[in-house]
Amino acid sequence: MDTAATTDNVVTVEYVGDVALICIDNPPVNATGYPVRAGLDAALKEITAGGTAKAIGLYCAGRTFVAGADIREFGKPPREPILPAVLNSIEQNPTPVIAVIHGTALGGGFELALSSHARVAIEGARVGLPEVLLGILPGAGGTQRLPRLTDIPWALEVILSGRQVSAAEALEKGAIDRITTGTPRDVAIAAAQEVIAGTLPTRRTCDLQVTPDDQVLEDAAAMLKAKQPHLFSPLKCVEAVAASTGPLDAGLKFERQAFFDCIETPQRSGLIHAFFGERAVSNIPEAKGPTRPLESIGVIGGGTMGSGIATALLTAGYAVTLVEVAQDGLDRGVATITKNLDGAVSRGKMSAQKRDAALSKLLPTLKMDDLAPVDMVIEAVFEEMAVKKEIFTKLDTICKPGAILASNTSYLDVNEIAAATARPQDVIGLHFFSPAHIMRLLEIVVADKTAADVTATGFLLAKKLKKVGVRAGVCDGFIGNRILAHYRLVADYMVLDGASPEQIDHALEDFGFAMGPYKVGDLAGLDIGWATRKRKAATRDPEQRYAGTIADRICEQGWFGRKTGKGYYLYDTGAPVPNPGALRIIDDVRKEEGSLEHPFTDADIVDRYMTAMIVEATRVVEDGTARRPVDVDMVFLFGYGFPRFRGGPLHYADTIGAKTLIERIEHYAQEDDYYWQVPALLRKMAADGTTFADLNKES
Ligand code: CAA
Repeated sequence: MDTAATTDNVVTVEYVGDVALICIDNPPVNATGYPVRAGLDAALKEITAGGTAKAIGLYCAGRTFVAGADIREFGKPPREPILPAVLNSIEQNPTPVIAVIHGTALGGGFELALSSHARVAIEGARVGLPEVLLGILPGAGGTQRLPRLTDIPWALEVILSGRQVSAAEALEKGAIDRITTGTPRDVAIAAAQEVIAGTLPTRRTCDLQVTPDDQVLEDAAAMLKAKQPHLFSPLKCVEAVAASTGPLDAGLKFERQAFFDCIETPQRSGLIHAFFGERAVSNIPEAKGPTRPLESIGVIGGGTMGSGIATALLTAGYAVTLVEVAQDGLDRGVATITKNLDGAVSRGKMSAQKRDAALSKLLPTLKMDDLAPVDMVIEAVFEEMAVKKEIFTKLDTICKPGAILASNTSYLDVNEIAAATARPQDVIGLHFFSPAHIMRLLEIVVADKTAADVTATGFLLAKKLKKVGVRAGVCDGFIGNRILAHYRLVADYMVLDGASPEQIDHALEDFGFAMGPYKVGDLAGLDIGWATRKRKAATRDPEQRYAGTIADRICEQGWFGRKTGKGYYLYDTGAPVPNPGALRIIDDVRKEEGSLEHPFTDADIVDRYMTAMIVEATRVVEDGTARRPVDVDMVFLFGYGFPRFRGGPLHYADTIGAKTLIERIEHYAQEDDYYWQVPALLRKMAADGTTFADLNKES
């Protein structure tokens, strides 16, 4: 998909009687990069000049019809012929063009079909305009032609959701003309012959009129302003669809400008980084080697995590042996799994039949010995090294040779856990995120002695569970929780120094986080952090400023957040309001500690919070805990609610630049030079002008 690639053989023309066939063959997904656009243009000219064809069948080789523009070209100078011009000339072509869709016709691919004179889908095909998910809008006539073929409400919903539409639904709405079976080439020949015979009608989309629907457009704009206030491109989509009621030329012009407005935004770059990042994390040698057999999996622990993991495994079709120590715990685990699966059925994500099939593969047991035949065990008991070691020692005697022994630890040393067995090569960390059947992140924690095929099987499992598997090295908290432990402190420092929890939450929600850190704390339960602080009290470095006094005192009141109705906020009156009791504690602690209170703007809060996150994320890359910056970014997008349109902490860091980040850190260090230290890697990047994006390319 190199833009400098030749156009040779990417688009070919063939004649079968008075039918001309155009075939696009541009693996992997037939994206409309330069060779395809130039090839289509040349093919049309060649066929017109030949003058013998009465109809043109347009189809694709390989796994799919065109799945869109070549996303890698965005942000580079456009190269003629541009896609909208090619599609206009298809629409105006004197000989009718029939698009034959197999696989997924997405974005520019669906737009190619919309500009053709008839659309025939092969069973199983899907269509859609997913551009909004990449921070842009359909820029080759999609916002103008889809409403012409269907109607404004449906077209707008498809464009704003970016969803893939089944061929059946597209047929019902008029977006395609027929569904059939066969190979793309055979269907193209047959459909073109039918057009010539007059049994498959053709029309020019540009000749159709759109019925105005101002109310739907206004409602959509109001909904977007309320629910997606940060996003730029969805509103542009609404404006472009509104323009479809006028003449096509004017509408296309409006759409083009809106497309370029979107291309210029950092959101486009963040969302496209997320698209490729999701694929890049498993594009590493360790993920691609031979794997071990994996059909049956044991889960130890029926608590929230264990039940969530078991739900995810059953949904993916694995047989699951669930082990608990007592009958009531086991019953609770089975009940949670059943509730999770029922929830999937009621949300329409799973059929009742599939739920029943999944549940029939669940074996609940109180006997660890029942794990003897399984291919993998995932231990999900509470975070206590002694308990985990005891379990792994037992597993060593019970499990068959070659079984993978995984721990769902979130912080603990996987090397130490592995050393409790005589087979450390079979031990790995698989860190799921709660709720485990919903959250997409899986940290695959590779210990010193983990065998290559065990790591590859971890990636295979992630893929089967439709999760984003990210390789992490062993350290306290791996990638995500280690970075979280660091930047979460800065929020508490800011409260000690004058910002309120509510202001911090508000500033970070405005930045794009779904919830600020104090609301998250109240939701998760403040007692969890309290217990951790007590556990770590003895090993705390006395040089470090202690950030936990306020939270400790809040917990001492029995205020653990939502579950007790009180935390940083009060929850008894619907929407959370700041807890006056917590504010009094904050005031007292500030006075006792003699903190130099000063006002914070929302921008100060975001800068400090993000800089702290970037500092630890840089260290995680520097010491190899994460292989590349993009791995950190995907951990945060898929496990920590980081705003996707910002691409991830280190993609965002590049928008600030290493020099500015260093200036900030050195400025903050004047207040606290223990906490604020410049990572060596950042200094190097500032000196040689490299970015995190460059580091992604190097590895
Ligand atoms: N441009 C460039 N590369 C693309 C691409 C695109 N539009 N779509 C997919 N690829 C690449 C992927 O990065 C991947 O590359 P690697 O193998 O090097 O990792 C490869 O194609 C295969 O993709 P997947 O791994 O995602 O394969 P899949 O079978 O799981 O899914 C797919 C296939 C449904 C097409 C999925 O790739 C997808 O959703 N692609 C994006 C579709 C899209 O957003 N199209 C709109 C583009 S914007 C546009 O068209 C603007 C316009 O209006 C003109």
